[in-house]
Amino acid sequence: MSREELMVALEERIQNCQKCPLGRLRTNAVPGAGSYTAKIMFVGEAPGYWEDQKGLPFVGRAGRLLDELLKEIGLERRDVYITNIVKCRPPNNRDPTDDEIKACAPYLDRQIDIIRPRVIVPLGRHSMAYILRKFGFEPAPISKIHGKTLEARTLFGKFVIMPSYHPAAALYKPPLREELRKDFQKLKALLE
Ligand code: SF4
Ligand code: URA
Repeated sequence: MSREELMVALEERIQNCQKCPLGRLRTNAVPGAGSYTAKIMFVGEAPGYWEDQKGLPFVGRAGRLLDELLKEIGLERRDVYITNIVKCRPPNNRDPTDDEIKACAPYLDRQIDIIRPRVIVPLGRHSMAYILRKFGFEPAPISKIHGKTLEARTLFGKFVIMPSYHPAAALYKPPLREELRKDFQKLKALLE
């Protein structure tokens, strides 16, 4: 099967998934969106209200900030792939539980295997902790590790992990916007 066929089949499985209790509560699952051949993959936490309504990742206020940050480095959504660790909305936007992450993360693992990005950007500390552990690194406070590049190895070769702040955090703490911007500038340099 082609990459596209594999991704479409995976998205369908996610849309029908009932592996954890969030499945019964959702309006739409949010598998992810963007290019299946993207060089950069962004990994947020979990869908919120608007994402659940539309079935698309980062379509609320945090998403608008993400769009701006992408635009500043000459990218659009269709150039990257955007997804979350957990594909269905937790009630009242609470943090996903460890069990929910455990049930859902194999979908993210598979997305990484199919897309084979050159750079993975975990957004926020939950995503950072999951991705770093998965590739054999110790999680660190997001204030210390954001903007740093870690080189990881997989069966498909080397790639870079560069954690950053969650855009929603920057909506509540405006000084973090500047940090996010600087991280995105580094991202741009990594792709050159
Ligand atoms: Fe399945 Fe993930 Fe949705 Fe749980 S959150 S029902 S594991 S897709
Ligand atoms: N926050 C996230 O972590 N993911 C989304 O898709 C939207 C908001």
